[in-house]
Amino acid sequence: MNVLVTGGAGYIGSHTCLELLERGYGVVVIDNLCNSNPKSLDRVRELTGKDLVFYEGDVRDETLLRRIFAENDIGCVIHFAGLKAVGESVAMPWEYYDNNLNSTLVLTKVMKAVGMKRIIFSSSATVYTADNEMPLRETSRTGGCTNPYGWTKYMTEQILSGMAYADGDWSIALLRYFNPIGAHESGRIGEDPRGIPNNLMPYITQVAVGRREFLSVYGNDYDTHDGTGVRDYIHVVDLAKGHVAAVEYVDSHQGCEVFNLGTGVGYSVLDMVHAFNEANGLELPYRIVARRPGDIATCYADPAKSREVLGWTAEKTLQDMCRDSWRWQSTNPNGYGE
Ligand code: NAD
Ligand code: WQD
Repeated sequence: MNVLVTGGAGYIGSHTCLELLERGYGVVVIDNLCNSNPKSLDRVRELTGKDLVFYEGDVRDETLLRRIFAENDIGCVIHFAGLKAVGESVAMPWEYYDNNLNSTLVLTKVMKAVGMKRIIFSSSATVYTADNEMPLRETSRTGGCTNPYGWTKYMTEQILSGMAYADGDWSIALLRYFNPIGAHESGRIGEDPRGIPNNLMPYITQVAVGRREFLSVYGNDYDTHDGTGVRDYIHVVDLAKGHVAAVEYVDSHQGCEVFNLGTGVGYSVLDMVHAFNEANGLELPYRIVARRPGDIATCYADPAKSREVLGWTAEKTLQDMCRDSWRWQSTNPNGYGE
C-alpha cells in the first residue's frame, strides 16, 4: 500500500517515512519545506536503501493534491503538515488557522472526491484541559486551549470526528502525541528547529554543542518531586512506529478513534538534564529562571488504549532518547544546514 505523508520532510514525518519504508509500504510525501529541509528525505532514502516520491508543494493546493492522488495509488494518508510553535501562533493566529485548518479541509475534500477515506492526524496532548487528573486518558476533558496552535488541533479533531459521524465510510485515527524527542539511532535524521528552540530537548542539545550558553529551567517551584515541570517524553522512533500501527488499524476499522501516544511516565526538567549528562558524559550548564507563562506542572499519558487497541507500546528508554538526541546534534551541529 502507498501512504501519502503530508509534512513528511519534517521531524516526526521523516522518522515515520523511514519506518513505513522499512515495513514495506510505498511512501509519497508532500511538503512545502516551510519548516524542513529536503535533505531529511535523501537521508531516509540512504538509510533504507529505498526510494520515495516527493512533491514540493502546499497541502492547501487542491490542484496539486488531485494530481498526487491521480499519479499514485494512495491507500492511506498521514497528515503531519502544519505549523507547530505555540508562541508564534499567539503572534500570528491567522496564519495558524489558515495553514492548519485549511490544509485539513482541502486534503479531506480531495480524499472524499477520490473515495479514499483513511486518515491519521497528528494531534497533541495540548488539547487536554489543564485541570485534568493525571494520567490523561482519551476520555479526559479537552478544550479550553490557551493559544491558537492548540485550538487548531482541537478544531481539527472536531472536524474529522464530525465527518466520521456523518459518513460511516471514513476511518480516522486522531493521535495525541505527548513530548517527542530523540532521533534515529544512526544520527542521520533528527529535529532541526529554525531559530531559538522552544522545546526542551533541542535547547539542551544546542547548549551541549555550544550554540547556546546555558539552559534556562523555567521554574523550580511547581508541585512536582523537584519543583520543575514534568512531561511524558517519547522517543520519536517509538512515535513513528505508532503511526505504522495506526495505518494497520485504519485499514481494518471504520469510524474515528483517539489514541494517546506517550510512555505513561513523567520526567522533570532536572531529571532530563541529569539523564542527558549521564547518557553522554557531559555537564550541561543551566540556570533556574522564572516560570514560562502558560506552562503546567505535570502532564503524562495513560497509554493503555494504544496498547490494547493498536498493539503498540513505547519501548525505548530515557537513556536512548538522550543518547540519540545527542548523536544527531553532535554529528550535525547545524542540523541539515551547512
Ligand atoms: P515539523 O515542523 O518538523 O514538520 C511539519 C512539516 O510540515 C514541515 O516539514 C513543514 O515544512 C510542513 N508543512 C507545514 N505546513 C505545510 C503545508 N501547508 N503544506 C505542506 N507542508 C507543510 O513538525 P513535527 O514536530 O514533525 O510535527 C509534525 C506534526 O505533529 C505537526 O502537525 C505538529 O503540530 C504535530 N505535533 C508535534 C509535536 C512536537 O512536539 N513535535 C507534538 C504534538 C503534535
Ligand atoms: C517541556 C518542559 C518547560 C524549554 C510544548 C507545546 C505542546 C507540544 C509539545 C505540540 C516544560 C521546560 C522548556 C526550556 C525549560 N507541541 N523547559 N526550558 O511545554 O510540554 O509542550 O511542546 O503539540 O503543544 O506546548 O514542551 O519542550 O516546551 O517543555 O525549562 O528552554 O521543559 O517549562 O516544563 P511542553 P517543552
